[in-house]
Amino acid sequence: MLRYKTLYYDATKPMSEAVRTMFQTNSETARETAPESDAGFLWDFWYPAVRSAEIRGQKLVTAMLLEVPLVLGRTTAGKAFAMRDSCPHRGIPLSYGRLDGEVVECCYHGWRFDACSGRCVEIPSLTSRDKLKVERIFTGHYPCEERDGYVWVYMSSSSRTESDTSRGRIAADSEPGSRSPEAIPAAPALAVFSEKYRILHLSCELPSHVDQGIIGLMDPAHGPFVHQSWFWRKRASIHEKAKQFEPIPNGFRMSPHQPSANSAPYRLLAKLTGESVTTTIDFVLANLRTEIDRSGKLWFSSRATVTPVRRDLCRIDFVAAWNLPLPVAIFRPFAKKFLRQDQLTMIQQAEGLKYNPHLMLIDDADRQAKWYFALKANLLESRRTGAPMVHPMSGPVTLRWRS
Ligand code: FES
Ligand SMILES: [Fe+2]
Repeated sequence: MLRYKTLYYDATKPMSEAVRTMFQTNSETARETAPESDAGFLWDFWYPAVRSAEIRGQKLVTAMLLEVPLVLGRTTAGKAFAMRDSCPHRGIPLSYGRLDGEVVECCYHGWRFDACSGRCVEIPSLTSRDKLKVERIFTGHYPCEERDGYVWVYMSSSSRTESDTSRGRIAADSEPGSRSPEAIPAAPALAVFSEKYRILHLSCELPSHVDQGIIGLMDPAHGPFVHQSWFWRKRASIHEKAKQFEPIPNGFRMSPHQPSANSAPYRLLAKLTGESVTTTIDFVLANLRTEIDRSGKLWFSSRATVTPVRRDLCRIDFVAAWNLPLPVAIFRPFAKKFLRQDQLTMIQQAEGLKYNPHLMLIDDADRQAKWYFALKANLLESRRTGAPMVHPMSGPVTLRWRS
């Protein structure tokens, strides 16, 4: 249990380092898990892989998303790229090789790959007599975009089959012109409402399946128990709440409302502007929870994502931006403490989940978790059948719980 505690890190510590440490400490678990069995991940979504600041110069950085090992870097032109961390020749991680401008060179036999397309550009061992068409060899690569200080990687489902470019392969004759990626939506971006604002990034790993991480994130009933503190709220402040929810594409929204009167930050916001505070909280597949608080000209916007690393490990990335007169240095320790409370709880929960207990989801406090599972199942079903996705909510609904 202790080993997870040391893995808490924030923006200053590279994520990939922590992921790698986890990978080493849990290598036995990793060996036991068959990579091809369904791990309950949602493919064809953007996931944050590393912080933008981590990839600079000639550095190659590793990350794992959905049990896919990745190597990331930045070309001299400044473009971030993500490739499968595996040379298509003998499978050695490309991250042991080197980045040379626009090209990644494998450390084993020196095959060179264009970093942005994954296309092989040189095989040093070939002689002029060799007929092998180097340009038809690809190493796996993934679409990559930078937003809000993260490098997002689009985890395409076609990457799961051997024939795909993301696994590394030799392209068919008619290609590679036909290798155009399917229509990919833009990577998520944090909503901001003024030109100047402060921004904070925090991150922590949870020894849990992504589903547990997500339902933990949207769980309204743990607040008074897990997050008790003088600055946030007291357990004695527990009271009945009624919140309205509405369906949105791929998710649900806690309709704009006046936030809970028992939370100090919201009281502060109202005090600063003298106007009422409105909060809107959305959850959208695969893994995004966003919250926007506005009061007069002041605003606070945050996003938490829970990203599957492996089936037994996920990572919360929290980013918040605001134009309140609140220095990052003041807010950071509070946010960090909050996240650490969640992390500790998930570490404790993982202890119990080892023994496959039966679990319960109750109304209404766990209704959002039920929606999450239904959204996920319905999305997969619609992808399987090609029929439009059925939303688990038929319209607005009021949920009541005590917290
Ligand atoms: S293993 Fe990469 S070049 Fe041979
Ligand atoms: Fe929490």
